Amino acid sequence: MEIWRIRGGNPLCGSVRVQGAKNSVLPIMAASILIPCRTELINCPNVRDVRASMDILRCLGCTVEQDGDVIHIDSRTLCRSAVPDALMRRMRSSFTFLGSILARCGEAALTRPGGCELGERPIDLHLEALGALGARFEETDGRIICRADKGLRGGHIHLRYPSVGATENAMIAACAAKGETVIANAATEPEIEDLQNFLRQLGAEITGAGTSVIQIRGISPVERVGFRIMPDRIAGATLLCAAACTGGEIELRGAVKEHLAPVTHALRAMGCRLREGSSAITISAKRALHSAPLIETGPNPAFPTDAQPLLMAVALRAAGTSAFIENVFSDRFHHAEEFRRLGAEICIEGRTALVTGVRELYGATVVAADLRAGAALLLAGLSARGTTTVLDEGHIGRGYEALDIQLRSLGAELEILHEMR
Ligand code: EPZ
Repeated sequence: MEIWRIRGGNPLCGSVRVQGAKNSVLPIMAASILIPCRTELINCPNVRDVRASMDILRCLGCTVEQDGDVIHIDSRTLCRSAVPDALMRRMRSSFTFLGSILARCGEAALTRPGGCELGERPIDLHLEALGALGARFEETDGRIICRADKGLRGGHIHLRYPSVGATENAMIAACAAKGETVIANAATEPEIEDLQNFLRQLGAEITGAGTSVIQIRGISPVERVGFRIMPDRIAGATLLCAAACTGGEIELRGAVKEHLAPVTHALRAMGCRLREGSSAITISAKRALHSAPLIETGPNPAFPTDAQPLLMAVALRAAGTSAFIENVFSDRFHHAEEFRRLGAEICIEGRTALVTGVRELYGATVVAADLRAGAALLLAGLSARGTTTVLDEGHIGRGYEALDIQLRSLGAELEILHEMR
């Protein structure tokens, strides 16, 4: 258990660099085993989910080394096609290994993945997509055995919903299929484009990422790949919202302005001043903020669900009422219930949360139920009067590298106490 103790009230000011993207590096690490080769990934965040992915790669027989923000993977020694349940449960993204192990070995044995509790998180779209490429599945005693006895063959995949993970699994597996694959209604999140860029470096012929139709025509293997992971748009949004919550002013270095557009648009509408350059975004929230425009989450290019808790933290003290509609996950308002303990005025009905800004929040003890909810609680604590304690069973460290150090460098007063269990 990690206990974050925050003394709120300081406006965050200064300059910070955004970390590499967790949700980009995870599928790319899975894709690195597609062919026997050596991969060097640069700008990897040192977070718990990335370490879990390293453990899966090692368990499969790969050699993995970490040197600062660089991860070296040698997949030539891969010798297993099964991932134990304990490793699968460590994160949702473990399921992206299904497509890559199947592509490399012709079979895979996995269990259902773990990850943040955000409501139901089925895997039907992943299985349907791989099924369209000739994979067959059997689920017994909690184990999913997947085979492509005659090898994977290219096919037409129409995703019923543009799932990020299912799109990634299909892209990776299709590289090893014979013939052309078309993925229609594909997810268009920036991380999908990063995966396409990596797969191209591996020798794949793939186009269309970033649009809803992706075409894959196979792979001409290479021996060695070097790739730089894109900046983390949600970690970037977290820092911008931290400045907005506390009436601060920060420069966010290394962020891609296009990736953050839905969030910067909302912050600007609330009264923040933003300047978006090619290498940095600056935000100033020196004047009082007003309510957010309607925030309705959805697949890209709609407002990202991962930033919904963060923007809600900003709305807690903004004048007027802000409406949040969560369309992606069925149960992603845990943070809202905890915000109320800090004095927030929030009314939740189904997928809608109405937040009426209060003049002041006050410190209390709250519980982080998932990764972004945890980050949002830290932001609310930073803008509250008095001391806030955030109890976290390790969620925040799954996606943020040294967030405490980064926030302290901006003037936040906080510390993490570790309680051994
Ligand atoms: C990715 O999860 C991200 N994780 C999530 O980030 C993010 O919230 C989500 O995309 C949406 O943007 C990673 O990239 C590692 P989905 P993923 O499949 O791929 C339903 C964070 O905080 N669905 O697009 O699991 C599902 O239930 C995390 O960094 C099915 O019905 O998301 C959900 O309602 C949390 N069947 C919706 O689709 C399936 O087979 C979106 O899920 C798969 C998904």
